[in-house]
Amino acid sequence: MRVIVPLQGVVQGTGGLFWGSVIPCALFYFLQLFFKTKTRHHQPPPSHNHKEDSTTFHRSLSLTPRHSSASAYVSPRANSITAANSSYHLAFNKVADDPYHETHNPDGVIQLALHQNTLSLDFIQDWIHCNGSAAILGTPLNISRIVPYQPLDGLMELKLAVAGFMPQVLEKPIFFNTSRMVLTAGATSAIEILSFCLADQGNAFLVPTPLSPGFDEVVKWRTGAEIVPVPCRSADDFNLSITSLERTFNQAKMRGQKVRGIIMTNPSDPAGKLLNRETLLDLLDFAREKNIHIISNEMFAGSTYGNEEFVSMAEIMEAEDHDRDRVHIVFDLSNELSLPGLKAGVIYSYNDSVVAASTKLARFSTVSVPTQRLLISMLSDTTFVQKFIEVNRLRLRKMYNVFVTGLKQLGIECTRGSGGFCCWADMSRLIRSYSEKGELELWDRLLNVVKINVTPGSSCHCIEPGWFRFCFATSTEKDISVVMERIWRISDSAK
Ligand SMILES: *[C@@H]1O[C@H](CO)[C@@H](O)[C@H](O)[C@H]1NC(C)=O
Ligand SMILES: *[C@@H]1O[C@H](CO)[C@@H](O)[C@H](O)[C@H]1NC(C)=O
Ligand SMILES: *[C@@H]1O[C@H](CO)[C@@H](O)[C@H](O)[C@H]1NC(C)=O
Ligand SMILES: *[C@@H]1O[C@H](CO)[C@@H](O)[C@H](O)[C@H]1NC(C)=O
Ligand SMILES: *[C@@H]1O[C@H](CO)[C@@H](O)[C@H](O)[C@H]1NC(C)=O
Ligand SMILES: *[C@@H]1O[C@H](CO)[C@@H](O)[C@H](O)[C@H]1NC(C)=O
Repeated sequence: MRVIVPLQGVVQGTGGLFWGSVIPCALFYFLQLFFKTKTRHHQPPPSHNHKEDSTTFHRSLSLTPRHSSASAYVSPRANSITAANSSYHLAFNKVADDPYHETHNPDGVIQLALHQNTLSLDFIQDWIHCNGSAAILGTPLNISRIVPYQPLDGLMELKLAVAGFMPQVLEKPIFFNTSRMVLTAGATSAIEILSFCLADQGNAFLVPTPLSPGFDEVVKWRTGAEIVPVPCRSADDFNLSITSLERTFNQAKMRGQKVRGIIMTNPSDPAGKLLNRETLLDLLDFAREKNIHIISNEMFAGSTYGNEEFVSMAEIMEAEDHDRDRVHIVFDLSNELSLPGLKAGVIYSYNDSVVAASTKLARFSTVSVPTQRLLISMLSDTTFVQKFIEVNRLRLRKMYNVFVTGLKQLGIECTRGSGGFCCWADMSRLIRSYSEKGELELWDRLLNVVKINVTPGSSCHCIEPGWFRFCFATSTEKDISVVMERIWRISDSAK
């Protein structure tokens, strides 16, 4: 018997229900008594005038008039989040108000700022149509599969399914230990939990740029940790250089910042670059030398489509015996399977303390049990998974090529990407002044004049103006020709 009651947490044992109701009631009673005695002696400060209506608790608690104008307290940290509405987020409202549709709204805004993949959704839809309800509810229907509380860090069956799925994705027989896994509501939660575990407020993580917009917020909002961007340059093809990492580390140190780790996304987003084996080993040496952690965000591991080999940190760890406890990997199940709304991610950590803490923190970002049931069945259908991965890679590669070729015909070059859902394009030729201002001015024309929503490089911490992220994996070939025609109109007027 396991009952959860407010004020008290989890009460276990056969007497749980009884104590579970008695303890909170008693506490409530004593609190009331306490406040009553207090209010007899002191006038409560106006900020105590909570807006709870109609309870006797309210009346006995506060003697100030009901229509006092003082507003209830909202924490400054919450207010700072409310205020942080970047132009990147505002543009999403614009798309929502006027979305492009080939026939219903051909002049609407085309969304190219969302890293989502719908190219193989037909596959997923067929599978869910045939197997979805049995996967979730069982045959015959058995609601005990989804209704009771389950371990908050994920069902063991799903961890086992992930241990089978990841080698398929990585195309290598890598052993995954379920004891190192914590399942979370998406890769975002996984990164946040790891940031929480590895850094204190004010500590920093090195993050190579360009990076996905909003990444700062994931690391910072709740943990108070900072990110320190490590610039990658067009001259290096946006490859990560250890020299740049070293320089940024030293600068941060000189500013008095405590660097706790590196968070790198591999394949990178938005540039789609893979880190080769040599660079991964250099990164490990760097982390060892500086005594910091590595978070390897491999959320697009299954969405690589180039000719290069993708090397997971997990593969490097199979060969490394020492210092594994500073390495933590993040996978994304739902996004890889074109199901971003299902929100399912994985923390795979080689450090037992981090696994233990993450297991507890997963309570705040649990994957719902029906979602887990669906994923267990889907990932266990290895024939389907195999086919999906193959077809999806081919479709991503094709759409990437169509998009990049289209831009090239307009004189816009992209870096060569090998994974993810975006391409990274140099539009500096089209900006009127070579600065962030010029870049944002072009972004504004793209959004408001020709109505395509893309992400400006400055939102990705890119230090060179004029770079833009185009997410192509929700487009059809027809959409792409519309996009190219619209960009042509801008580039023509720029002459
Ligand atoms: C964005 O934030 C500003 C204040 O920083 C506020 O005035 C504005 O109304 C906000 N816009 C939206 C759409 O929330
Ligand atoms: C799911 O449905 C497909 C048909 O699309 C079928 O071939 C497959 O065996 C089913 N898988 C499971 C696990 O039931
Ligand atoms: C229903 O599902 C639960 C949990 O998976 C299982 O323990 C139980 O045996 C199932 N009941 C039936 C009748 O299949
Ligand atoms: C899996 O990881 C746990 C925790 O680190 C460890 O105790 C166990 O030996 C590992 N199992 C295998 C088969 O490596
Ligand atoms: C970037 O890295 C890739 C492979 O990791 C390599 O093929 C390419 O030559 C590198 N580009 C530059 C400019 O260093
Ligand atoms: C986890 O990592 C920290 C920092 O590297 C280390 O001090 C600790 O011993 C590790 N714990 C385990 C159980 O691996």
